[in-house]
Amino acid sequence: MSDRILIFDTTLRDGEQCPGAAMTQRQKLEVARQLARLGVDIIEAGFPIASQGDFESVREIAKTVRGPVICGLARCVPADIDVAGAAIKPAGKQGRIHVFLGTSKIHREFKLGKAREEILRLAAEGVRRARKFTAHVEFSPEDASRTEIDFLIEVVEAALEAGATTINLPDTTGYATPEEYGRMFREVIARARGSGNAVFSTHCHNDLGLAVANSLAGILAGARQVECTLNGIGERAGNAALEEVVMALRTRHDSLGELTTGIQTREIVRTSRLVSAACSFPVPRNKAIVGLNAFAHSSGIHQDGILKKRETYEIMDPEEVGWGKTELPLTKHSGRAAVASRLKHLGYSLKPAELQAVFSRFKEIGDRKKFVYDDDLVSLVGAQIQVARETYSLEKLSVSCGIGEKPEAKITLRHGRKSLSAAGTGDGAVDAVLKTIDRITGLKGHLVDYQVRAVTEGKDAVGEVSLNVRFETKAEPCGGRAAATDVIESSARAYLAAVNRWFAEGGRTPRGKSRRTLAHP
Ligand code: KIV
Ligand code: ZN
Repeated sequence: MSDRILIFDTTLRDGEQCPGAAMTQRQKLEVARQLARLGVDIIEAGFPIASQGDFESVREIAKTVRGPVICGLARCVPADIDVAGAAIKPAGKQGRIHVFLGTSKIHREFKLGKAREEILRLAAEGVRRARKFTAHVEFSPEDASRTEIDFLIEVVEAALEAGATTINLPDTTGYATPEEYGRMFREVIARARGSGNAVFSTHCHNDLGLAVANSLAGILAGARQVECTLNGIGERAGNAALEEVVMALRTRHDSLGELTTGIQTREIVRTSRLVSAACSFPVPRNKAIVGLNAFAHSSGIHQDGILKKRETYEIMDPEEVGWGKTELPLTKHSGRAAVASRLKHLGYSLKPAELQAVFSRFKEIGDRKKFVYDDDLVSLVGAQIQVARETYSLEKLSVSCGIGEKPEAKITLRHGRKSLSAAGTGDGAVDAVLKTIDRITGLKGHLVDYQVRAVTEGKDAVGEVSLNVRFETKAEPCGGRAAATDVIESSARAYLAAVNRWFAEGGRTPRGKSRRTLAHP
């Protein structure tokens, strides 16, 4: 058995499925390029049948990203498979279709209403159909960890016989324990006819906080592909975190064996930040490997130990995962070339118009802040590339507020060639600003989530606002993110980003028709 573990990144599919993490096509492309630099083996770029946007993103990634295999997800439904086949076509021999079908009793009876025989037939037909588009077909018996083992083996055999080259056994609900998950792999690999011709894969959710432990158990039991996401984002409590699986394998050869991955670990932190910026999902400070506190030692005893010998309290070298040497910060005197070169170093490849927009915001911030750090830039770029088209942009903003005063906002927005102004009050300064924006746009946004954080240290730090807004009762919330030295301005810009995303994805004002149907698994 090979010692090489394939890293299948599903940040752009399962990761993007978590509420509030939706990314634009432009952002997905940036993330995919960085995933290729990170060295993942397979990028699951989306679920092409879910929407036109998903289809186009997968197709664009298949067309332009080279290195990893590009994969599209499909149910065992002919239309899904055909659309996935069309989306991955530009990747040529590097294209993969991932078909899935619920196999557990609860899925068969309540979700699908299908008997075992029908599941076996659909699985085989789905794989066979996918094989017409590509030689790389992955099959997932959804909810595998809660499927009766004998039936699971039958389904796996049917998929293998039909031509599946990878068999993924997902712990869809995050229910399994490591011992159970490992046992399932051992049994299926040992008993399923033809298992020697396929790569077995883990896919773990974190509902009980066991996603990484279960993935490692799967590997120890013979899996050679791991499905995971950056920062562990994903449906509900998330998926196994790529950075944790990779660093566990690298750090614990003594316990897990001499297993390797193709991951360039020094790209991990950079990729984590890019993903966090793209999906407006801040990384918790205490997140393993990539959180700000991951290598921060605060107690005196620990600091003393670290100074005497790093290994007393550090099991990994922070530089190995991309922390460490901070570059000299930029200042308002830095020119466009310096900013462009720093952005390139940070992993961005911006179009000239995007670079210009980021540079203008950089200058505005540089005027108010002594140093502009890498994190400030990442924050600015993330905000800049989040919408394809700006329906509204901020021209002027003034707010008056104080103790005992009713906060009032006066705002001017640019809309095409027009400047539209309004004034309004609210319960607080942010409320006044958002309500006044609604007055101008005609929308009525409901704030689902609002977070503010200082991007770097210091009183002049850039304040980054991440928010999610629901513009129609049943619609998916739109995410927005923005950074400025003033958090009221960041709030206005982040809210406008969400407004622009709503319109860019076909949304209307309440008088118009609504949009957006999503068919996630
Ligand atoms: O969790 C799951 O079962 C999935 C499948 C589509 C593989 O995401
Ligand atoms: Zn999943």
